[in-house]
Amino acid sequence: MILIIYAHPYPQHSHANKRMLEQVRTLDDVEVRSLYSLYPDFNIDIAAEQDALSRADLIILQHPMQWYSTPPLLKLWMDKVLSHGWAYGHGGTALHGKSMLWAVTTGGAESHFEIGSHPGFDVLAQPLEATAIYCGLKWLPPFTLHSTFICDEETLQAKARHYKQRLLAWQEDNRG
Ligand SMILES: Cc1cc2nc3c(=O)[nH]c(=O)nc-3n(C[C@H](O)[C@H](O)[C@H](O)COP(=O)(O)O)c2cc1C
Repeated sequence: MILIIYAHPYPQHSHANKRMLEQVRTLDDVEVRSLYSLYPDFNIDIAAEQDALSRADLIILQHPMQWYSTPPLLKLWMDKVLSHGWAYGHGGTALHGKSMLWAVTTGGAESHFEIGSHPGFDVLAQPLEATAIYCGLKWLPPFTLHSTFICDEETLQAKARHYKQRLLAWQEDNRG
C-alpha cells in the first residue's frame, strides 16, 4: 500500500498539489491522509497515524515547501508519530524495510536554491533523508515540482502525470 501523508495548509488554494493528488488518489492501493483536514486543531491521533504507517509499504510526504522546510503540521506529525520505541530506539522497528518518497512543490525554480553557504536543493532534503534513514526507511530520489507560480496548466498537468507514473512504476517494481 502507498500512503500519502498530505500536508497543505491551504488546500482550497492549491494548484500544483491539487493536480498531483487528482492524478494519484484513484490508483489502486493508494491511501491519502490529508493532515490539515484531519487535524485542523493540530491534535494528531498518534495511534491512527501509526496504524496507517504500519499498513504502508511506501510512505510519501507530499506538501508545498514553506520557508525551505515542511509546513508546521507535518513537522508536528513527525515529532509526535515517529515516537521512541516505535519508529526508533529500543524496539523501535515499526518502519524498518519500508520506503519513503518526498514529493514537494516549490514556488522557486531549481536555480533559486543555489543560494547560501551550502547551495543546492539536495541540502534541503537532508533533514528528511536523515530522519528516514534513522527510522530504517529506504529513501527514494525525491519528486519535485518547481516554479509553481509560473507553471501553466499544461505544465502542471504534465508534472502531475509524471508523479502518477512514478507511483505506478514503484507498484510495478514492488508487485508480489
Ligand atoms: C508561508 C509560505 C512559505 C513559502 N516558502 C517557500 C520557500 O521557502 N521556497 C519556495 O520555493 N517556495 C515557497 N513558498 C511557495 C510554495 O511552496 C508554493 O506556493 C507551493 O509549492 C505551490 O503549491 P500549491 O499550488 O499546491 O499551493 C512558500 C509559500 C508560503 C505560503
